[in-house]
Amino acid sequence: MTDANRAACVIGFPVSHSRSPLIHGYWLKKYGLPGAYRREEVPPEELTAFLRGLDEHGYVGGNVTLPHKEAALGLSEPDAGARAVGAANTLWLEDGHLRSTNTDVEGFLSSLDDDVPGWDQDLETALVLGAGGAARAVVYALTERGVPRILVANRTLGRSRRLRERFGDAVVPTPWDALPEAMKDAGLLVNATSLGMTGQPPLDIDLSPLPDRAVVADVVYVPLNTPLIEAARARGLRVSDGLGMLLHQAGRGFELWFGVRPEVTDELRALVQAEILKD
Ligand code: ATR
Repeated sequence: MTDANRAACVIGFPVSHSRSPLIHGYWLKKYGLPGAYRREEVPPEELTAFLRGLDEHGYVGGNVTLPHKEAALGLSEPDAGARAVGAANTLWLEDGHLRSTNTDVEGFLSSLDDDVPGWDQDLETALVLGAGGAARAVVYALTERGVPRILVANRTLGRSRRLRERFGDAVVPTPWDALPEAMKDAGLLVNATSLGMTGQPPLDIDLSPLPDRAVVADVVYVPLNTPLIEAARARGLRVSDGLGMLLHQAGRGFELWFGVRPEVTDELRALVQAEILKD
């Protein structure tokens, strides 16, 4: 394949909402690279055939979004991170093998590193809200950084317990109604539920028990300033919003497909932010 027709795609169902073409299109232009990044709407029953024929479709790899992240894991050769999280979001062809990884993990960590340098120094206890796919990536990321105690509060406590089975004793399943008590010790609070997202119920929690040094992060990025982020700012806490995670998770795929490690610039952030505001 020549560089001119190197292409990658985002595979989802539906896929029209995906911001990935905007992000990768920006980088292709910025670095003056030939190649393309497209949307591919693939229904679940066609995913296996589509991935087996990725090469014939003209792709060197791609991103995978809802509802295919779990299925993509089983249809590829995942790295340790994707296996641990139980989902893949980035695929690439290597010597005829379809490899995969989960870049939400590094996206979450790089975004926090950028927004709140040193956030993990002396961090004893993190509190994660949620126990779904996004929470698995966040909890795995925190275990990788060596956070010794990760409280996981979820409406369905059984799902928090499964995260302890998956990631070990650092994970402490925490009932939702114990949140005020749990917050007292938390140096980091992360919302990894869908609460607070446009069209979803609000995340109704009072941040006053958090210590003054606490950092608050939200994986939700529509709206950009979620009520959680606004409440944290109003309390004078340091914050990291969900857009940073979205932008930072994209870099590894771009590097794998197009050979350049791209930068998350203020210009890119403003571009995607403007697109979100149109919704
Ligand atoms: P994702 O892959 O985006 O994490 P998910 O696996 O469906 O999506 O998980 C959504 C998370 O938001 C879960 O933690 C879910 O709680 P449950 O495990 O109890 O379902 C949480 N969530 C969604 N709607 C909620 C609501 N109305 N109240 C409380 N938690 C909610």
